[in-house]
Amino acid sequence: MARIAFFSTQSYDRRFFEDQNNGHQFEFFETRLKSKTVELAKGFDGVCVFVNDRLNEEVLNALAEIGVKLVALRCAGFNNVDLKAAEKAGVRVMRVPAYSPEAIAEHALALIMTLARRTHKAYNRVRDGNFSLERLMGFTIHGRTTGVIGTGQIGRAFCNIMLGLGTRVIAYDKYPSEEMKNKGVEYMELDEVLEKSDILSLHCPLTPETHHLINQDTLKKMKKGAMLVNTGRGKLVNTAAVIKSLREDHLGSLAIDVYEEEEKLFFRDLSDYVIRDDQIAQLMIFPNVLITAHQGFFTKESMEEITRITLKNFEDFEKGNDSENDVNCKLIKDCG
Ligand code: NAI
Repeated sequence: MARIAFFSTQSYDRRFFEDQNNGHQFEFFETRLKSKTVELAKGFDGVCVFVNDRLNEEVLNALAEIGVKLVALRCAGFNNVDLKAAEKAGVRVMRVPAYSPEAIAEHALALIMTLARRTHKAYNRVRDGNFSLERLMGFTIHGRTTGVIGTGQIGRAFCNIMLGLGTRVIAYDKYPSEEMKNKGVEYMELDEVLEKSDILSLHCPLTPETHHLINQDTLKKMKKGAMLVNTGRGKLVNTAAVIKSLREDHLGSLAIDVYEEEEKLFFRDLSDYVIRDDQIAQLMIFPNVLITAHQGFFTKESMEEITRITLKNFEDFEKGNDSENDVNCKLIKDCG
């Protein structure tokens, strides 16, 4: 049975994997996998990592050198792995392509509803005995236009929700979905989606092409007062440009579950420390900004699926079976 070193683990990772373990040997490390920590993987057949572990050429070569032959991602996105370097080093990379796309889509909805109806403010007010409605006026979502960038598994689940709420749903994807078209989603060019959306939600992967997809130029093309929602990856958005647009009263509101520099912050309790990241510190004080710390995936159902599929990946790795969960250069156009 495979010996696997887990990185970036939290109590819930350990609990789910220990409960479902069918005989593998696991060691759980809280630290992220990076060049300074790679030595911890010595003596293991594989490493199991998450969104902010850094699998660059240096780390992959070091893993190969100490005999590690598998990188198993406990997530769908694989933008943190240098696939070319993995191929060269002979390290197999596997992921969990889909566990509960609805979980992430529902989290995007939660963020949108919160910002639209200011329930985050209302919750605190009422707890403080303040029953005034001053400055709590929201907007009705029904009848608005929702723009969706990327209509893969999560984007499609999100389109269904927003159609159900009675919004017009427009989308941009290089590979439009016939299923979504039949349900009433209107595909158009990116610029048109930017111009027409009252709510714009990002559901495409982070690739060299989508890096800073939302920047100074694209923000200018967006409708004044629109809401931007990012549950994809932090680097889809240029944070400095978004802060500028919010300050200039152009972007109406922002909801993010992911952040450009999240690896230094997210998944940790920093409540006793000074936050040294000036950009997130600024965003934290804007009244029209809502931040969650990469929790879109975090439901009981998702955790069960992530664990089940990852254990199956370990098994396929041990047996040398091919798997549709393999990640390699064939999956992306620009492999670095
Ligand atoms: P998917 O692979 O099913 O769909 C991605 C879609 O984006 C595809 O339809 C693809 O054609 C489209 N796309 C690719 N390049 C594009 C471009 N330049 N412009 C417009 N569309 C483009 O992926 P899935 O499962 O829907 O996940 C999407 C992303 O969501 C992941 O890559 C990951 O970064 C993020 N994610 C975030 C989570 C969270 O907890 N916040 C959890 C899981 C995924």
